[in-house]
Amino acid sequence: MTQGLRVQNLTKYYGDYKALDDVSFAIEGGQFVTLLGPSGCGKTTLLRVIAGFLECDQGEVYFGDKLINDVPPNKRDAAMCFQSYALFPNKNVYENIRFGLRMRKVPPEEHKERVEEAMAMVNLTGLGERRPYELSGGQQQRVALARCIVVRPQLLLFDEPLSNLDAKLREKVRVEIREVQKKLGITAIYVTHDQAEALAISDQVITMSAGCIIQNAPPRDIYDRPNSRFVADFVGTANIVPCRILERTGMEYLVQSPYGELRAVDADCDLPAGAEGYLCIRPEDLLPSGKGESSNQICGAVRTAVYMGNLLDMFVDIGTEQIRASIAKDWNVTEGEAICFRVAPDKVRILGG
Ligand SMILES: Nc1ncnc2c1ncn2[C@@H]1O[C@H](COP(=O)(O)OP(=O)(O)OP(=O)(O)O)[C@@H](O)[C@H]1O
Ligand SMILES: [Mg+2]
Repeated sequence: MTQGLRVQNLTKYYGDYKALDDVSFAIEGGQFVTLLGPSGCGKTTLLRVIAGFLECDQGEVYFGDKLINDVPPNKRDAAMCFQSYALFPNKNVYENIRFGLRMRKVPPEEHKERVEEAMAMVNLTGLGERRPYELSGGQQQRVALARCIVVRPQLLLFDEPLSNLDAKLREKVRVEIREVQKKLGITAIYVTHDQAEALAISDQVITMSAGCIIQNAPPRDIYDRPNSRFVADFVGTANIVPCRILERTGMEYLVQSPYGELRAVDADCDLPAGAEGYLCIRPEDLLPSGKGESSNQICGAVRTAVYMGNLLDMFVDIGTEQIRASIAKDWNVTEGEAICFRVAPDKVRILGG
């Protein structure tokens, strides 16, 4: 298994602008971690500091137990895979992949076997003679991936590698990237601003905003137990409204909100009775139910219903607020119709600011 990575108190300024603000995290060897966040939050900056292309103003980067702040990029045993594949247009696939070996001065007699092994790993066998313009976008991306793995790095760094591909191909190639990374047991850091992609491929998702880490957790926790309004809103879809805590007993809450009085069970919340916060409910956790037929109901009138193929997306007026519900596609509703949903208390989250 390859070594892990530890980043401690990293701060990076561009002039007066603080692009990274005291960033710390650790990745175990062989793990696949994504840096997720909106445009400009510092993802590429963080990746470039880790790769050694950019110096930080404060903080340390450790690879295994070794401090690598002063180690130049080509000695860091990391390979970076970019959004623009940066392939040589007039070199064939074989030569494009071999480039990395030549750069690292690997003895020429090893080249053929290693390039062929990398090509097989990413399903490019037989395409060695082709030039980049004779390949599809997905194949070009795989050449770029092969060029990274052929040098057998300890650390793979990806900066939005799939953003030039269409949605279907992106899903396919991301699964391939994950499989190759698992097979080789290489530690990987993958930058994306696509939350679905981050949830789909990671062991751990590091959610960032304005140069800071907001939450660092496995995909399920990021989605089911967001630690803030920012993460709840950025990852997936969420109904978020202000609320006040009326009662609290351990992790059971009664809250007042524009959706009415609701019960919540939330082990992560630490707000006391009387506190103000935000209530968060995912659209798929709202289940249609007859009025008064269950507890913890939210009732309103259907504003619009959008047929999505796999489900029905509904926007429902609750007083002056709205709630979005995703329900089974064969449900029939008409606009203006009264409707009630029940929500399990453990699907109601209470968040601080
Ligand atoms: N060389 C630079 N000089 C000055 N400011 C920069 C420089 N590079 C980046 N920035 C600024 O630092 C912030 C972080 O940039 P960065 O490229 O790390 O964001 P990002 O999260 O990768 O965004 P995106 O998703 O758009 O790629 C941005 O506000 C950006 O404008
Ligand atoms: Mg970027």
